Amino acid sequence: MTLTLTDHLGLTDAAAALRADVLAGLTAQPKSLPPRWFYDERGSILFDEITRLPEYYPTRAERAVLASRADELAAASGAEVLIELGSGTSEKTRLLLTALRDAGSLRRFVPFDVDPTVLRGAGEAVTAEYPGIEVVAVVGDFTRHLAELPRDGRRMVAFLGSTIGNLEPGPRAAFLRDLAATLDPGDSFLLGTDLVKDPGRLVRAYDDAAGLTSAFNRNVLAVLNRELGATFDLDLFDHVARWDADEEWIEMRLRSRVDQRVRVAGLDLEVPFAAGEEMRTEVSAKFRRAGIEAELAAAGLRLTHWWTDPDDDFGVSLSTP
Ligand code: AVJ
Repeated sequence: MTLTLTDHLGLTDAAAALRADVLAGLTAQPKSLPPRWFYDERGSILFDEITRLPEYYPTRAERAVLASRADELAAASGAEVLIELGSGTSEKTRLLLTALRDAGSLRRFVPFDVDPTVLRGAGEAVTAEYPGIEVVAVVGDFTRHLAELPRDGRRMVAFLGSTIGNLEPGPRAAFLRDLAATLDPGDSFLLGTDLVKDPGRLVRAYDDAAGLTSAFNRNVLAVLNRELGATFDLDLFDHVARWDADEEWIEMRLRSRVDQRVRVAGLDLEVPFAAGEEMRTEVSAKFRRAGIEAELAAAGLRLTHWWTDPDDDFGVSLSTP
């Protein structure tokens, strides 16, 4: 059937956002970079490999929940339109698409992602695999462009993979409020959340033996080298993954091995790093059912279903306005 693609970002917008983020992050104390910039072509491939690591349980656990509950949640949502935020390759989405199609309700799939290349590929694949389903791909940033999502039909918005964990509590509350504002009665929100568990397992999931997460973390420096003419030497930074028991999140950082100055030509900036200085590159919050229910409620959403995998590693909730 038809595949259409609407772009709310464009090249200049993405480039400007990168410049603004990097300038703010590298001149702050302590330094930080937002996780969004991990995902260039190599970063996306590395993340895909991470999801298959023995230590990285979230993807498998979420897939197990979706595989066993797809029919139940398709019936509960009754969705004619499936919107997926941060859809990437839309791999786990196939479980939802199949269940909604077999339930007879699905008419349209709206993958929403920052990366137009990934979207086009995923959109074309879904168009071919699900004849009769209209695919309306939207390029956008889920913290800025939720209001642009198509509004007609009974909709289910899916936000999987615990990507919501990249947002800290303030921005997370703002995101949930914005999302709730776009939902009409009868619509639903499907959210995947990684759960609090033994810190040893959590840290190993973000500091794997094969070193893939280390390569993924340091790849953001290669993105800055390429896009902003920076001079980062990836071998002069160590990967750090830490569990913060108070915040209940995993924090990834890059630790400078030496005293060094890095030049960022594109920002006309010189950035000093002290030996041992750590720069934060990602927060990955972990959740509990009660916390999720309260955060959804604060945004005006009511949790109607809660499913976990047999080991209680990962939670999937369905909520409604
Ligand atoms: C894609 C944000 C859900 O936080 O687990 C994987 C990214 N970072 N390993 C996560 C990630 C390090 C992932 N999310």
